[in-house]
Amino acid sequence: MKILGSFPKTRLRRLRKSKWIRNLISENNISHKDLILPIFVREGKNKIEPIKSMPGVNRYSVDQLPKILKQVKFFKIPMVALFPYTPENKKNKIGSEALNSNNLICKSLRFIKNEFPEIGIMCDVALDPYTSHGHDGVIINNKIDNDETVKILTKQALLQAQMGCDVIAPSDMMDGRIGAIRSVLDKNSFKDVNILSYAVKYASNLYDPFRVAVGSSSKLKQDKKTYQMDYRNSFEAIREVGFDLNEGADMVMVKPGMFYLDIIYKIKKMFNVPVLAYQVSGEYSLIKNAIKNKLLKEEAIIESILSFKRAGACAIITYFAIDIAKKINSIN
Ligand code: PBG
Repeated sequence: MKILGSFPKTRLRRLRKSKWIRNLISENNISHKDLILPIFVREGKNKIEPIKSMPGVNRYSVDQLPKILKQVKFFKIPMVALFPYTPENKKNKIGSEALNSNNLICKSLRFIKNEFPEIGIMCDVALDPYTSHGHDGVIINNKIDNDETVKILTKQALLQAQMGCDVIAPSDMMDGRIGAIRSVLDKNSFKDVNILSYAVKYASNLYDPFRVAVGSSSKLKQDKKTYQMDYRNSFEAIREVGFDLNEGADMVMVKPGMFYLDIIYKIKKMFNVPVLAYQVSGEYSLIKNAIKNKLLKEEAIIESILSFKRAGACAIITYFAIDIAKKINSIN
């Protein structure tokens, strides 16, 4: 690209002289419409329990979900992502609670679809909140078995769709699961249920606060490097996305977010499909703690979200969604 203009005829600061002109020429913006709020659900009644690893984030019993959903509705945040904190006694080696039509996710889906029908709901497809070993799949001969796991995941996805889930989001990183899930959904008259694939999910150190939130962290003995991606790689991400799009994914996700902006940019350039970013728990807690300790100003949150937009993401899953929606109009 040829750069036109030169100093002193051209002064780039002329376009920064006031708030209104900065607003007029801004290349990227965020809106409440770009946000997805993750919500953790727990058993019991009348419970709102703070999560130690994620300051400011709570686990809600189903009856208390309106406390947070009223805010989601008020700020017109389009979608929430549900995650369960499964009681210990319901976990086992094969994560069978994932297929219980009365599990926390199913209960929440029915409740939210009834009480807040205008809010979109996405659900993770993976077994880690339900297994006694904390892995996303079943272990056979000491390995996470791909094909056996996919069989269970298709059932989990179908159950979620039957309960009213709008967007099925497989986060397990098994090969071939998008195609398998798409065909099961189509065969069962769920042709319009979306699939948002966690196509590019790295084996990251930034998920630990989340694992505490869903209660899998103390269970997990090894890392997830035999199924989640190696963070030294970027071209591999292109293969992952290509496969998932061929198998029927409507949208793809890059996860984590901030350390992987190069990947978001590449995927958007290459495929020009909806790319979503997940600002994961570790990113959240880092920024949140720095703000709490007065090392950073709150506007750092907005800056972090804008970085995803610049890179090419159309929407962001973030634990800051409500804080951002509150702030959006007061900044700039
Ligand atoms: C489970 C899952 C994880 C996250 C979302 N779904 C953790 C993991 O893969 O271990 C992480 C989200 C976050 O850190 O905020 N498959």
